[in-house]
Amino acid sequence: MRIARLLALPIALLACLTAGAAAAPPALAADGITRGTIYRDGPDNRYLLGGTWLFRLDSAGVGQRERFQRRASTAGWAATTVPNAWNVGDNSVASMTGTTGWYRKDFHLPDRRARMDWLVRFESVNYRAKVWLNGRPIGRNTGAYLPWALRLPGGLLKRRGVNRLVIRVDNRRLRTDFPPSGLTGSGDPAGGWWNYGGILREVYLQRVDRIDISSLLVRPELPCSTCAATVLARVTVRNYGDAPSRVHLTGTFGGRRLALGTKTVGSRRFATFAARVRIASPQLWSPASPYLYPARFAVRAGGRKVLGYALHSGIRSIEVVGGHLALNGRPVDLRGVGIHEDDPAAGFAIGSARRQQIIAQAKEVGATVIRAHYPLHPEMHELADREGLLVWSEIPVYAVKTKFLKRLEVRKLAARELEDNILANQNHPSIMLWSIGNELSARPGPVQANYIERAVRQAKALDPTRPIGLAVAGYPSAGCRPQYAPLDVVGINEYFGWYPGPNGQIADRDTLSPFLDEMRACYPNKAILISEFGAEANRSGPVQEKGTYEYQQDFVNFHLAVHASKPWLSGSIYWALQEFRVRPNWDGGNPHPDSPIHEKGLLRYDGTKKPAWFDVERLFKSTPQLGQS
Ligand code: GCU
Repeated sequence: MRIARLLALPIALLACLTAGAAAAPPALAADGITRGTIYRDGPDNRYLLGGTWLFRLDSAGVGQRERFQRRASTAGWAATTVPNAWNVGDNSVASMTGTTGWYRKDFHLPDRRARMDWLVRFESVNYRAKVWLNGRPIGRNTGAYLPWALRLPGGLLKRRGVNRLVIRVDNRRLRTDFPPSGLTGSGDPAGGWWNYGGILREVYLQRVDRIDISSLLVRPELPCSTCAATVLARVTVRNYGDAPSRVHLTGTFGGRRLALGTKTVGSRRFATFAARVRIASPQLWSPASPYLYPARFAVRAGGRKVLGYALHSGIRSIEVVGGHLALNGRPVDLRGVGIHEDDPAAGFAIGSARRQQIIAQAKEVGATVIRAHYPLHPEMHELADREGLLVWSEIPVYAVKTKFLKRLEVRKLAARELEDNILANQNHPSIMLWSIGNELSARPGPVQANYIERAVRQAKALDPTRPIGLAVAGYPSAGCRPQYAPLDVVGINEYFGWYPGPNGQIADRDTLSPFLDEMRACYPNKAILISEFGAEANRSGPVQEKGTYEYQQDFVNFHLAVHASKPWLSGSIYWALQEFRVRPNWDGGNPHPDSPIHEKGLLRYDGTKKPAWFDVERLFKSTPQLGQS
């Protein structure tokens, strides 16, 4: 590893080496920096910060005091790559509870021109991050699964020499985090998926030639399936320069021109450009035919092109009509799977091949919808757009206890994550709804009512074109809840005949059908989906015995038959496509579990199919999901 050895050299020598090469092109390859993103939509000014990174664990929490952020020496650091989850394979309680780890990247700027400003963009860091550039703090962030960026201050940045980016990552979970910490009945750390610490998605450098795009919306609106569509394009730019700039924006949608215009943007100011285009006979996007329209934008400043931006959009409508989810005006009866971006070897720091595999497997089982508990990797969204999978997009407001949901800081973080998710992902036709959480108290009171009301209002203001949903634990004792009134969609997580539930109320699977009818009577005007159902399976054995493949097969057949008997349901999502690491001492209702693996998956952790896969595939594929019949 050439770079690893280079980094091991004393930093002064390293600086000499690079200074000597002043006239030569920047050490791009040596630093592992490549132009562009690993996904295809977005601005063209990003550089992947790949290659060799350095890592050191700091379980004792002494890093800041010992100035890991300031030291040039690489002693104590080990070579790694990013994305990275530092605790993959460590299935201990301590690993789940979290600790601190440090990442470091020594790099040259890939473009030395003085007028360029630079940002660093993190796609997902779990969980709390603090960042230093060349020994000085430049910012921090809280929360995983959503991108965030920091400006690299010009005064700190070395145009020619080696820059040292250091990130302290703290993944110790708090009760107020998303997802929150907690303890199970047996005193183990709670949580719905493994607490992988690290920089879980890619890091990019973003070069700004004075003007940057800070947000870009392409929103097709389709009043009816045979109507013309109107596409709204709205672009907000920011002038990073010291002088006002005359900014000219051009754009196309499916080859049609968007008249965005010209504006003078003051120094350090923002300006928004908007235009609409009418598409007379649009080719509609749907899982059956995921047609994408290319959209392109160019920013010109001072007569020069300074930035390009490309994306792929789809024209379709998704709304709740008469208590049913309708895609392009047709009521749907979707079938799908819950997923985690997990892998035995990489944890949540998976790569493109694994993402493609997850999407291919979802397609293979006959799914038209996928759901996760957190915003997916940008490439997953693009794959879903291309392959025709709808996405139930959820923020990780997961099983947050009411006493914490009440707190201002928790509410603020939830509102920020909802906004960030919508702003980051709204251009994807695959996203069918914004979900504001999973399994908050099943008996909501004023705190949850207030959370729902505000979150729905906020999401609608940001994106009036998509329904807003929440996944709730399905218990008969919860009754009809007026607190759900603002929601368009209620997702029911139902484990009838699997978990006993409080006071054994869901132990008997025969009570599922009447329960669903009661739910419908409660919410006649909302779309209702089964957002989860599933049974663990890790061995062959009697059909009556929980945890056997036979039990799981019988379970999926029974549940999917009940779901199919409710014509008012808009869909049913099996939990989950594949096994994943969940938490120490997990049993998931299985008398013979393989903790920490969650085993309700249709695929084992090694990717092989369980018998129930074939039942689900047959039943999914024989269901008219898109209202064709
Ligand atoms: C919950 C939760 C899932 C979890 C599942 C289970 O409903 O939303 O994340 O895996 O139950 O118990 O298996």
